[in-house]
Amino acid sequence: MSLTTLRFVHRGQVRTCVDVPPDRTLLDLLRDDLHCTAPKEGCASGDCGACTITLAERGDDGGLHYRAINSCIRLAHSAHGMAVFTADDIAPDAATLHPAQRAMVECHGSQCGFCTPGFVMSLFTLHQHHGGQPVSRDQALHALSGNLCRCTGYRAILDAAQTMHHWPNAPVDEAALLQKLEQLAHAGPAPAADSMPNPDAAFYARPATLADLLAWRAAHPQALLAAGTTDVGLWITKQHRRYAQIIDVTRVAELRRLERTEGALRIGAAVPLTDAFDALAQDRPRLAPFFDRFAGLPVRASGTLGGNVANGSPIGDSMPLLIALGATLVLAGPQGERRMGLEDFYLAYRKTALAPDEVLACIEVPLPAANEWLSADKISKRFEDDISAVCLAVALQIDGGVIRAARVGAGGVAAVPARAVQTEAALVGQPARQATFDAACAVLQAEFQPISDMRASQAYRRAVLGNLLRRAWAQSQPGALRLGELAPETLP
Ligand code: FES
Ligand code: FES
Repeated sequence: MSLTTLRFVHRGQVRTCVDVPPDRTLLDLLRDDLHCTAPKEGCASGDCGACTITLAERGDDGGLHYRAINSCIRLAHSAHGMAVFTADDIAPDAATLHPAQRAMVECHGSQCGFCTPGFVMSLFTLHQHHGGQPVSRDQALHALSGNLCRCTGYRAILDAAQTMHHWPNAPVDEAALLQKLEQLAHAGPAPAADSMPNPDAAFYARPATLADLLAWRAAHPQALLAAGTTDVGLWITKQHRRYAQIIDVTRVAELRRLERTEGALRIGAAVPLTDAFDALAQDRPRLAPFFDRFAGLPVRASGTLGGNVANGSPIGDSMPLLIALGATLVLAGPQGERRMGLEDFYLAYRKTALAPDEVLACIEVPLPAANEWLSADKISKRFEDDISAVCLAVALQIDGGVIRAARVGAGGVAAVPARAVQTEAALVGQPARQATFDAACAVLQAEFQPISDMRASQAYRRAVLGNLLRRAWAQSQPGALRLGELAPETLP
């Protein structure tokens, strides 16, 4: 199979697409090549959800796993071996609507209709996850966090989500689908390392093992390493960069593992953000509301924790938290593995310590220590589906009313995600009380020189940075007014 050919299941049939440029987006393939025009292009940046489609693949448990994703920033080749659903494909026949579609009609959930195919696919995915059973308002809000509507108003759409179980189900023939996916899994494996294409050839490689990935990396150090492409996709759609050679890390078995070892949670670099955040929130439930504010659900379903870390954006939201938690990175290369603290990984703006022949293999997060006190918060213009102006994460160990250890991670205030070591020094050894936090706020505000840009001014960022620490303290006090579920737990 050619390295620019892909196959996926669509409308119950295997579709083969040949000579697809490696950097073609899935939305362009669907709309322009396959004339499947239900998904729309609104923003082309993962912000509006008009392009939402559903991908399904066989999970480790043998069942089908559905994910609603933004097709505008997802690469077409990444859908190889999966089943693709759009709002054109889910009704059993032309005369019968899927329950997600029917509920939108009955609840008057559509006005201009531009956003509607995207909402329908998020609802379809929710419906599949819940086996056609009723869902709560919170579950609906969560599922629709990546979809914007600017003319209907969300009440009608949320009503649709909560009533779709009333309508006759249109079950997906999962057994047939699994069979097709099985066929695909055995068709067209990535070439072995000894049959590499020549250096100038276009390719989209999907190595399946770490050894293969490193061989590809060594043979093509100039190729783009891609995972969920929730940022890379914007380089293509917004900056019009072209990539003729792409190595996709998301099929590498070692990078897809999520496991607990003694004392740490090991998150493979290609584990989707949704799964990584679920595992982190299992150990630290207070983080769940923070994770819900990381972009919208379709971005979290595509994006990977390793991609967020390796990308090195100074406003990536996972890094301040991982710095505060004391995460260690495992980098793999031809000579074996090396490890480093996350804060040491960033050398300059978008420049990391990763060598040209290395890849990020996994992120190790220590399990919670006794007496851990944790706060993670961000300030952005929208509550969810938005990028931070400032993000702050603080992890303290408090014993006998004294702060024994502190780790503070900050985003949006420097050229790289940063550890606030001076602030940590101002906290350690001090009594856990307001005067300590007030003094630490002043240190924190002086520790960074944030820039002004379209998201926030320097002065605003500096003020907010200190206020986030102050708020973390204030909300930990007994009787404090809690902001929804955002409040951290009470100080031990
Ligand atoms: Fe807006 Fe894709 S077009 S998220
Ligand atoms: Fe017009 Fe949603 S119906 S944007």
